[in-house]
Amino acid sequence: MRGFEAARRETLRYHSAAFAASDRGGHGWWARPNRLVADAVDLATAAGVPVHAYDLGSGTGRHAILAAARLPSGSRVTAVDVLPAALHLLAAGAQRAGVPDRVDTVVADIEEYTFPQPDAGLVVGFSVLEHARSPAALSAVLARWRSATVPGGLHVIAVFADRIEVGTQGARPAIVECPLTAAQVRELLRAAYLGWDVLHERTSASATTETRHGQAYELRSTLVGVIARAPSGCDGSANRALRHCAIPDPMPTPTTHLPPTVATRGRAW
Ligand SMILES: C[S@@+](CC[C@H](N)C(=O)[O-])C[C@H]1O[C@@H](n2cnc3c(N)ncnc32)[C@H](O)[C@@H]1O
Repeated sequence: MRGFEAARRETLRYHSAAFAASDRGGHGWWARPNRLVADAVDLATAAGVPVHAYDLGSGTGRHAILAAARLPSGSRVTAVDVLPAALHLLAAGAQRAGVPDRVDTVVADIEEYTFPQPDAGLVVGFSVLEHARSPAALSAVLARWRSATVPGGLHVIAVFADRIEVGTQGARPAIVECPLTAAQVRELLRAAYLGWDVLHERTSASATTETRHGQAYELRSTLVGVIARAPSGCDGSANRALRHCAIPDPMPTPTTHLPPTVATRGRAW
């Protein structure tokens, strides 16, 4: 089996098992929202106007439900995931949280998902881009997310890099579709968000215990996260209307290799 297909199979197996355990009352990383996303939701809420938020690779919805509960009245959340079981759990969670009418779910691969309209006021992509098939595919997904974003809209992105599994037999590279180093992730994000206002960036060590075929191991990684705001309206004003203006793509999408280091035009990373 080719590398990507083997990794995709493992991604689906791992998340199906983890989410099924959560349905039986198990707890894990998916139980509580990450602080970076909570901060981005607060920023999106501060403007006081309704937004359409998209949680891409939503899992069971810790961030989608938080957004649905906190964003101003009239806001909506679209949660997208490749696993139908995750979205069933998300819908049940939204019901329990009293926000079922604010959340839509879509079963789709992020590499194929097309936005119904370019109205994203908040895009959440938390630990999903490392499941793209390549760095070029990852950059293409980010380009589509940018194109779907309204002027002044926010992106909160996190990628787990430097992934290794440490078990009783030592350390080995983790199984993931798009294995990247933290430096590579920072470079991809820097290229993607040139011209945007980078409000926050975070790099931190992470570790979690997982199990594969009955064998426990520790997954160690580096979380690289960013909150970035799209440029304001074409005339430079803070335009919150659902209007779109042509924002030039700052970098060509890399085809085979990671992009080279470039000088940033936007705020320092
Ligand atoms: C590590 S989990 C993160 C879930 C959620 N973002 C969170 O922070 O709780 C990764 C999620 O991405 C989903 N996923 C993986 N590859 C995907 C793809 N190509 N398209 C859509 N969803 C994907 C998985 O099913 C899983 O729910």
